[in-house]
Amino acid sequence: MLNNGSALHPARSATGKPLLRVNELNTFYGHIHCLRDISIEVMEGALVALVGSNGAGKTTLLRTISGLQPAAGGSIELAGENIVDMAAHRRVAHGMAHCPEGRRVFGELSVEANIRLGGYLRPRVEVERELERIYDLFPALVAKKVQASGLLSGGQQQMLAIARALMSKPRLLLLDEPSMGLAPLIVEEVFSVIKRLRREGMTILLVEQNAHVALPMADWAYVIETGRIVRAGEGESLMQDPAVREAYFGLGESLSALA
Ligand SMILES: Nc1ncnc2c1ncn2[C@@H]1O[C@H](COP(=O)(O)OP(=O)(O)O)[C@@H](O)[C@H]1O
Ligand SMILES: [Mg+2]
Repeated sequence: MLNNGSALHPARSATGKPLLRVNELNTFYGHIHCLRDISIEVMEGALVALVGSNGAGKTTLLRTISGLQPAAGGSIELAGENIVDMAAHRRVAHGMAHCPEGRRVFGELSVEANIRLGGYLRPRVEVERELERIYDLFPALVAKKVQASGLLSGGQQQMLAIARALMSKPRLLLLDEPSMGLAPLIVEEVFSVIKRLRREGMTILLVEQNAHVALPMADWAYVIETGRIVRAGEGESLMQDPAVREAYFGLGESLSALA
């Protein structure tokens, strides 16, 4: 439905360096061609949103980037190095952290044990130092640290999943639908943490079905439909794009006719 009219790459940041560059990436499930020639860039320090409806391929793209799903062609460069054939755990060591869809916290483990899991590749002393920083970022988790994670609310579990991802001290944070299943007020809370991370210099690729919250805060955004990137632009300008408005806000031609 959407046409690929605009340029697909972001204006260069001050440093001009993409931390992540995905080029002509393809992924299959058996013989189903799920991602088709995906090319995206995430500049160092930017928050880039990838929006698209259910089943568009957002999770598959994140899983391919983090190495949980094999790529069938194309390249994935992290800070200039092609990592497309690198095992997922080595990508973590190279600075990539993936906060998965549905949070995936270990419900029977304590909150702190879950957070520590994210630092499994790092030396003990660094883990202790990082824990302090994490609790500063997520004060709500401090009081819960010895509780079983399964007892947390959905919003707290989302915070926990982000906290766990941050324990590997990533250069690039991949977030898959952090707003999923959360009440609007809680979504706001989770997103204020994401904004703070961005302000502190984290580079973030944020996948969201919820374009209302993702686009306004994104420096750059992509729209994915049935495995292809069909639009790219600054978050705010995509919000104004009639085709995007129709697809994601139910405000298409009819509203522009009224304006
Ligand atoms: N393990 C799988 N095996 C086969 N098909 C899958 C698998 N996971 C996802 N798909 C299909 O791939 C497409 C993209 O799914 P997904 O990446 O989960 O989309 P999104 O995250 O945008 O909702 C969908 O058509 C989905 O049914
Ligand atoms: Mg998904």
